[in-house]
Amino acid sequence: MKGIVFTEFLDLVESKFGLETVQQIIDESELESKGIYTAVGTYKFTEMVSLLTNLSNLTKISKNDLLKVYGLHFFDALANNYGVILKSYKCPIKLLSSIEEHIHVQVRKLYPDAELPEFETIEQTDEKLILIYRSSRSLYTFAHGLMEKSFKHYGLDCDIKYELLKEDGTEVRFEILKK
Ligand code: HEM
Repeated sequence: MKGIVFTEFLDLVESKFGLETVQQIIDESELESKGIYTAVGTYKFTEMVSLLTNLSNLTKISKNDLLKVYGLHFFDALANNYGVILKSYKCPIKLLSSIEEHIHVQVRKLYPDAELPEFETIEQTDEKLILIYRSSRSLYTFAHGLMEKSFKHYGLDCDIKYELLKEDGTEVRFEILKK
């Protein structure tokens, strides 16, 4: 998993829960990196799972709820760091339907070791998008947060419903409606 996912996560934890909480979840997790991350480095996904699990235990907020909020925050980090890619899209539905064929393709060129999900477009109109998310990491609520913020980025609102096609969340169907 890319370092930016860790650095932004710890920044968010610090702003919501304070520096002590950051230190506490790092101390409680057995981290090969010792909790020292750089944005361009690559670290084990299991480190993110440990940090998230410890934060969830500490705050009593479910991992999926934490990941949703993190998705909302991560979109802003993407907009700040990769604005050029986002600027080529005029609407959120076009943006979201292009993750697989364009956006993450560019990401893979920059970082050949990136661990990216797969998005399959099932249906697309100007108002509606049906996508299937597939990833062994089951970060579908993170995806949910990113999708919601994609609409906000264009000053729009949306209604997003999802259904787990596999119980472990490795395959999830999203129905996204522009409001
Ligand atoms: C400029 C736009 C974008 C860039 C530069 C970008 C880049 C990245 C990067 C660097 C990662 C981490 C890969 C790793 O840790 O190895 C990632 C993961 C991810 N991205 Fe994107 N992304 C963009 C837009 C989006 C959007 C709009 C979505 C909306 C759903 C999305 C969904 C995800 C998800 C769900 C993951 C987590 C990995 C997984 O689920 O397996 N991305 N992306």
